Amino acid sequence: MTDIDNLKNDLLERVAASTSPAEVLRAPELKALYAEIPKQEPAERRAYGQRVNELKLAVEAAVADRENKLSEKTLPPIDVTAPFDMNAAQPALLPAGKGSTHPLMREMHTIEDILYRMGFMVEDSREIDDQYHMFETLNFPKGHPARDDYDTFMTVETDKDGEPLIAPAHTSTMQNRTLLKYKNNLEKDEPIAVVVPDRVFRNEDLDARHEHTFHQFEGMYVGKNINVGMLIATLQTFLQEYYGKELQVRTNPFYFPFTEPSFEIALSCPFCEGNNKDCKVCSGEGWIELLGCGMIHPNVLKAAGIDPNEYTGFAWGCGIERLVMMKYQIEDIRHFESAKLDFLRQF
Ligand code: DAH
Repeated sequence: MTDIDNLKNDLLERVAASTSPAEVLRAPELKALYAEIPKQEPAERRAYGQRVNELKLAVEAAVADRENKLSEKTLPPIDVTAPFDMNAAQPALLPAGKGSTHPLMREMHTIEDILYRMGFMVEDSREIDDQYHMFETLNFPKGHPARDDYDTFMTVETDKDGEPLIAPAHTSTMQNRTLLKYKNNLEKDEPIAVVVPDRVFRNEDLDARHEHTFHQFEGMYVGKNINVGMLIATLQTFLQEYYGKELQVRTNPFYFPFTEPSFEIALSCPFCEGNNKDCKVCSGEGWIELLGCGMIHPNVLKAAGIDPNEYTGFAWGCGIERLVMMKYQIEDIRHFESAKLDFLRQF
């Protein structure tokens, strides 16, 4: 082995062991090697210079490699959700060990669990959408007066048709996408059975029962010979599971452009069952209006390329806060987003 090879091995070993490997590039031995170049016989100078240069490149590559390894080891993993700058001193006031799931999220998982056991797939919704999914595919043509019932928030940014984007006012915006995604089920003689929970937004006057931001879950079931009886049985089964007791449901005729016929479902009060005139949950009525539902309008099926003469289906949309408030007798919807620990710690 030549001196140059020996030195190369030595320098590479030093790089591998060093915590500041760039220093090795300034080693006096390396400098001395450079000083040797002009002293070489003219015939050998070029080849010698080349070997010194190769050595330097090898050491540089090793330094870069080592630096990468060191930075991987010493940087803490980045928590992109951390409410503070990971590079600054971390606040002492976040006892993560004492955190807990937000009651709404916990209930949402319970709801998903029940419906999953009943045969429904769970799909994610989205928090920004276009007019096509918010209205057109749901049988609200342009200029339809029912569009005004969904007074919501829009962006300055526009979609490809020049229309503002929308913070969805209901999870029904997912109906078209869900039908398209699961359409193949029908060819396999399987139903489309999907629930879509998520956050929705409305321009509301705020009070104990109304928030501008809340949660819903949409349910859809499509197949052959599906009827209203199945819709009611499905919802009644779900609600009884959720409240853990036998309950009655009542349907009132209603109007939604995307269902025909449409209903509002009221639930017998799970607390007083109609036996307490002073019940705070149902105001002594014995019934609580809970959700909108109906048989999916043929135009909604058509918009997803499903033949309404062959297939029928039902759908519903239910506010999650409403369900949870009733379950735990929570008197004000604004508690959920208040971040008040004395509220959250009760769950
Ligand atoms: N999207 C309606 C709302 O938020 C609720 C609804 C009614 C959803 C009927 C449905 C349905 O899927 O079939 O007011």
